[in-house]
Amino acid sequence: MSRRKPSNIQDGVNGVTAATTTLNNNGVSNSVVNTIPKIPVRFFLFAACLWWSLWILALFGASAPGHNRKISSISVTDYDQLKNVIVSHAKPINIEYVDVSDGNKEHPHLGATDENGRIGYIHDETALRKNPPSLKIDDSQMNKFCKSRDEHFQMMHNRIVVDTDYDRRTMEESGIHKRDKLFCLVYTFDSAHPMIPYILETWGPKCDGFVVGSNKTDPSLGTVNILHEGPEEYNNIWQKVRSMWCYIYDNYYEKYDWFHIGGDDLFLLIENLRLYLESEEIKSAANGGIYLPDGTETTQTPLLLGRRFALKGDLNDIFVSGGSEYTMNKAALKLLVTEGLDNYFPHAHTFSEDTMVSKILQKLDVLPYDTKDEDGGERYMPFMPGFHWSYRLPKDPLNSKEWYAEYSINIKEGAEHCSPKKCGIPSCEGREYETTIRTGVRFVPEGVFGD
Ligand SMILES: *[C@@H]1O[C@H](CO)[C@@H](O)[C@H](O)[C@H]1NC(C)=O
Repeated sequence: MSRRKPSNIQDGVNGVTAATTTLNNNGVSNSVVNTIPKIPVRFFLFAACLWWSLWILALFGASAPGHNRKISSISVTDYDQLKNVIVSHAKPINIEYVDVSDGNKEHPHLGATDENGRIGYIHDETALRKNPPSLKIDDSQMNKFCKSRDEHFQMMHNRIVVDTDYDRRTMEESGIHKRDKLFCLVYTFDSAHPMIPYILETWGPKCDGFVVGSNKTDPSLGTVNILHEGPEEYNNIWQKVRSMWCYIYDNYYEKYDWFHIGGDDLFLLIENLRLYLESEEIKSAANGGIYLPDGTETTQTPLLLGRRFALKGDLNDIFVSGGSEYTMNKAALKLLVTEGLDNYFPHAHTFSEDTMVSKILQKLDVLPYDTKDEDGGERYMPFMPGFHWSYRLPKDPLNSKEWYAEYSINIKEGAEHCSPKKCGIPSCEGREYETTIRTGVRFVPEGVFGD
């Protein structure tokens, strides 16, 4: 369950069908030119027309990322418009809890077992927040990290800012503003349990609710053996994640507003994630896109937030990637569990849970929301900070044979890749920093820096 490419890359698409619209200008022109002498004139005219159409498409479509590219046949020219299209595409749904567990008799609603194997175990998801373990720091290792001036360091120090002040302020004002409740879900298996303390000692307790889905229940680590169809293996993560979302929905849905999932190598900047989720942009998006909710709403527009990738460059086939994984609001989780999981790919055997979730929600009219900030900086990172710091796009991204360039949607390079404004992991302060570097910052929020 380590860091990985968007899951469909290695293995094909795993039941997710996709049309490729990437244009290969050279390929097209060569084949036309080569065949001209051998074909009748009307074919030549046809080929010439096709050639020109493809060129025009290439010039105004694929080769101009972010401009006149299409989402579900609607031409989109700027971020705000794009976001409106995504939001208005989804139907608001009633967010009242509906029991679909059917007595917890079958996958994916079978539930979990306790450490003695007894079924029906429900973990206290607030245990970690109430009793966070202390940060354990190995000074010599820390010093080594802190002396390093590598690219991770550059991105962490020169760009990223953790908005702890926002968190403190809003907590103080929480009598006035109701804070959103965030549930964090990590998936792992028993051999990787040594990774879990890094999360427990850093960002885990900042979530209101926290559960680690595993194949072994260990209350001291917050790991829960959540039963799922098929074997416990990388290639079957989809079944595991299906069962995990059902477990979360069946047991914790009503108490939380947001649900984030990630692997055991994830590092979330919870302060910034909250800042984003509680922003006017996201609150109004969850309320249909125009007005802020006043807290009395019984319906909500489903939101799927994460790092968007276009499958093979096709903007009609956008998914949120693994790495930083994704965040759903109540409406999206309810829709996924009550209408999605039983009806789409119920028995698929695949590791590409991220594309599966995106695909199912897309079938239910929920497109991944564009999580870039107003300057085009990304908030959800698929890779370690240093990668994004030094990454430069190839000249012709859509034809580069480099999946990251081809799949990325209008990304910026270097420091600007990460969302700008205030922010920042302050300095080499303890294991939090080490952990951040070790596990990779996958959520860079109002990120950059610089003052
Ligand atoms: C958990 O899954 C791993 C990988 O398949 C396996 O080696 C291990 O024995 C499993 N643990 C339990 C408690 O079933």
